[in-house]
Amino acid sequence: MMMARRALPKINPALDLSRHLLTFEQLSGPWDATALFGRRAPLELEVGSGKGLFLCNAAAADRDGDFLGIEVSRKYARFAAAKLAKRKLDNACLVHGDASRVLAELLPDGVLRAVHIYFPDPWWKKRHHKRRIMNARFLQHVQRTLRAGGQLHFWTDVKSYFDHALAILERETDLKGPRAVPPSVATHPMDYRTHFERRTRLQHQAVYRSRFTKQTA
Ligand SMILES: C[S@@+](CC[C@H](N)C(=O)[O-])C[C@H]1O[C@@H](n2cnc3c(N)ncnc32)[C@H](O)[C@@H]1O
Repeated sequence: MMMARRALPKINPALDLSRHLLTFEQLSGPWDATALFGRRAPLELEVGSGKGLFLCNAAAADRDGDFLGIEVSRKYARFAAAKLAKRKLDNACLVHGDASRVLAELLPDGVLRAVHIYFPDPWWKKRHHKRRIMNARFLQHVQRTLRAGGQLHFWTDVKSYFDHALAILERETDLKGPRAVPPSVATHPMDYRTHFERRTRLQHQAVYRSRFTKQTA
């Protein structure tokens, strides 16, 4: 279902975002995760990070992993990057750019431990379906950039989009799935995977969750 988005709170202008907010252009050139995080660690990618709840929680929960969020909206990319900077989460950063381009043009084969896609824009009108991120080319790049045993997590509240994406995954990739993912019980008011999951569940709407695995060769 379509939900209006509230204005974002202001970002503290004194906050230094230089470590946590990058542009597509800054990532261009040969892929070098060490330049991003100062080390080589398992890398997870989130497509469309929105306000950054998943990225913050995942980076805080797993300090041995690195997390790269991609967000096409500058204001949301800045907002999520500010959250990371405030919590000094140096194992995560935001790229302001188009996830399709980051996957197709920047990421080499097999570099990702996981790809997370939560509540991608549904582009409701049929003539706009071609703008959906869950398309054949994009999902082939997801498969290519995942390492063996790596996982794709895809959740949405739009059943028709969920079914459509699963059909493309079945037809266009060898990813194994879908595995159903049961909902967890929220133990505090922000205990949700993402802001959109929170809003959807608080409105008692269904969430469709799936997980796929790249098989070992
Ligand atoms: C419906 S929101 C969901 C945000 C977040 N994942 C959540 O669940 O709360 C979709 C987000 O994806 C971003 N987005 C849409 N197309 C994108 C693209 N091609 N690359 C990166 N981000 C994109 C939008 O700007 C928006 O912030």
